[in-house]
Amino acid sequence: MITEEKFIFDKSLDVFVEGEVTHKSPSNIALVKYWGKTGEQIPANPSISFTLRNCTTITTLKFVPSSRHSFKVFVEGKREASFEPKIRKFFIRIVKYCPYIAQYEFTIDTMNTFPHSSGIASSASGFSALALCIMSLERDLNPAMTDEYFRQKASFLARLGSGSACRSVYSGIVEWGRSDVFEGSSDLVAIPFNKAHKVFYDFQDTILLVDKGEKEVSSTVGHGLMYNHPFATARFEQAREHLAELKVALEEGDVKEFTRIVESEALTLHAMMMTSNPYFMLMKHNTLKIIEEVWAYRKKYDLNLTITLDAGANVHLLYPKEETEQAMRLINDKLIHYCEKGNYIMDEVSTENDDFEE
Ligand code: DP6
Repeated sequence: MITEEKFIFDKSLDVFVEGEVTHKSPSNIALVKYWGKTGEQIPANPSISFTLRNCTTITTLKFVPSSRHSFKVFVEGKREASFEPKIRKFFIRIVKYCPYIAQYEFTIDTMNTFPHSSGIASSASGFSALALCIMSLERDLNPAMTDEYFRQKASFLARLGSGSACRSVYSGIVEWGRSDVFEGSSDLVAIPFNKAHKVFYDFQDTILLVDKGEKEVSSTVGHGLMYNHPFATARFEQAREHLAELKVALEEGDVKEFTRIVESEALTLHAMMMTSNPYFMLMKHNTLKIIEEVWAYRKKYDLNLTITLDAGANVHLLYPKEETEQAMRLINDKLIHYCEKGNYIMDEVSTENDDFEE
């Protein structure tokens, strides 16, 4: 079993390096959702996601030895103080595992390859990229580190920035959270799942941008509302069952079963929001319109177009590559009218051949 001790840096703190590293990391879309957490970013249930290929964050970390820790955040070269509180919290959480950060002055410069105001959460790709940068610094201090440890600790650190970020450290299909059906799974780090049928490795994800505004309720607040939620126990149990069923569907290439589980997860996530205290709703009128159109079209042409949602109004349309032509016809004829300014982003599942290293 993996324990926190594994990630405590225990080498000399008398070594100092100055330098700059850049990492690129993708966003991910959960199939079984993480919603509810305890303690220090421990998920209430295990989750699994597709790591995407095109929606990425590119982060450069400059580090200069200093008598005291400090950092500044820039977005595409422009100072962005509003990002700093979340990153400060991240540094406070990781100092126990990376004590060397107390001896550095950092400059963090970050950019997303997806539109800034797209309503797509950048915390997963953002904290994953930053954690990889910190690990590059750590490798300078401990060159004997293995690649496996590098990635595993990056996932561990990314989780402390944002839970879903720990899954973005790996490409392809990634599981996070202790589960009886995933060998080697852990609440502390994500693990790649490489046993899915090939149909899932070329799944497409077109993100229909229904609402590009700021979320009214942050994920962190949403997770908090799962405390004392009347349906929490049943929900966490259902997520475990869904994860076990989805594993079989992924292995067997059962796309119909995939659709059933993934859509149930998306709707349950939003059902949890609508039934928490206080209740809230992140779906918009056009979110529902899109779902109805997709379901009608899927039935009419016997397709496998599948919708999922994250904590917002945008719809992720997932489909096997061979249904791209039909999906594009539906998007351009119908769905585009429900997107803000007609905007959507085309992405797909990444594979282990993707090189996210900068
Ligand atoms: C609905 O990872 O953003 O996207 O750990 O508080 O940063 P924090 O939450 P976050 O929550 C993601 C919620 C979700 C589902 C998922 O990605 O599994």
